[in-house]
Amino acid sequence: MTTPAATGTPGTTAPGPAEGDLPMMLARGVRKSFGPLEVLRGIDMEVAAGEVVVLMGPSGSGKSTFLRCINHLETMDGGSIHVDGQLIGYRAHRGRVHHLRPREVTRQRRDIGMVFQHFNLFPHQTVLQNIVEAPVGVLRRRRAEAQEHARELLARVGLSDKASAYPRQLSGGQQQRVAIARALAMRPRLMLFDEPTSALDPELVGEVLATMRDLAGEGLTMIVVTHEVAFAREAADRVVFMDGGVVLEEGPPSLLDHPAHERTRSFLKRFL
Ligand SMILES: Nc1ncnc2c1ncn2[C@@H]1O[C@H](COP(=O)(O)OP(=O)(O)O)[C@@H](O)[C@H]1O
Ligand SMILES: [Mg+2]
Repeated sequence: MTTPAATGTPGTTAPGPAEGDLPMMLARGVRKSFGPLEVLRGIDMEVAAGEVVVLMGPSGSGKSTFLRCINHLETMDGGSIHVDGQLIGYRAHRGRVHHLRPREVTRQRRDIGMVFQHFNLFPHQTVLQNIVEAPVGVLRRRRAEAQEHARELLARVGLSDKASAYPRQLSGGQQQRVAIARALAMRPRLMLFDEPTSALDPELVGEVLATMRDLAGEGLTMIVVTHEVAFAREAADRVVFMDGGVVLEEGPPSLLDHPAHERTRSFLKRFL
């Protein structure tokens, strides 16, 4: 169902299937341009609860832009994204779509964890303070409770001994694992990773991937943009290839060995 254009969101779709039938993330026809540059040209993607999807594709194919649309760091020019049954960024009303207010967008974002290439920890806060900041400040959790959860998360990412360390005292790999713990502290329903190991020295990549593999094994729903083919093979339920703002092909990790598309094949050659 395509609705008439509302202010600033021409062509944005407002489908209305029953809640509960929806996957954890459902993208339909997502379009996005920056000026004359059409970056997303109709992305369709579904991610089931508990599923781990690795998103690959050449630089500039729109992977980061798509992830940013999922938590509404970017507005869209068309299509729709649902996370856990909720239309992200917009509200459908009488066949029209309207922008959500910033406060409502912020509320939606709490359920979606994001880990970037650069970890952006607060440098003047300890590891523990970094992790409890949002649960206490945003979710109004009791500090003692948030700290207890933070310690559990630190154990989960293998950094129990670093609670009182400052970010600068940690390696890049350790900082990224703190960033993962910080995202998990909000108990997100969906985790987005955008090239989480690309800025790391090669010898530190493995520890971050191992942490992510553990999370994948624990049933967290994850969308991971990465060129790490070994990670995709071991941890992904599905691999999706993007190119030029569309999904070129997708399938089980075995697809990595037999891509149907020539462009996927030549892209993978660089990493296999
Ligand atoms: N805020 C922006 N303004 C203008 N162009 C942008 C912006 N963000 C991304 N782009 C452009 O959109 C295209 C896709 O970028 P991106 O989503 O970062 O791709 P990927 O993550 O696959 O490398 C690139 O050509 C990039 O330069
Ligand atoms: Mg990117």
